[in-house]
Amino acid sequence: MKIAIGTDHAGFEAKEFLKKELEKKGHEVQDMGARGQDSVDYPDYALSVGQAVSCGAADMGVLICGTGIGMSMAANRIPGIRAAVCHDEFTARASREHNDANVLCLGARILAHAAMARIAEAWLKSSFEGGRHQGRVWKIMEMADRAKNAPSC
Ligand code: RB5
Repeated sequence: MKIAIGTDHAGFEAKEFLKKELEKKGHEVQDMGARGQDSVDYPDYALSVGQAVSCGAADMGVLICGTGIGMSMAANRIPGIRAAVCHDEFTARASREHNDANVLCLGARILAHAAMARIAEAWLKSSFEGGRHQGRVWKIMEMADRAKNAPSC
């Protein structure tokens, strides 16, 4: 699988670790930065990874920041992206099976490196179940238009 990976400074070390783990599993990893631990802005990396996934240059994306939250907020503004912050293997599997997540967001200040590798593996091995979840995911993807057309408060 082609995986685009990106972090801010908080996730840099975790990215270096996870990149190697993913490559060991046979994935092609596209590293979109950051390149070190100097302070940077996480939305810039969310944009690079999100666009790679959204245009099909990558199959899936992984984003790491301190909590995973900022990365997910930023990535979810990109059309076609369903980014999920996952803290364990259960949420990782559910985000694929129910929400068809295409970007995994991890918190480097919450998770140990080994836990991140387990979560990423569980996430990459799971697939969308479709069925009753399909219509809900379509509704998510139409959210911007739905909000525009909804009566304003
Ligand atoms: C950086 O200090 C931190 O704010 C960032 O990594 C992330 O946790 C934001 O959501």
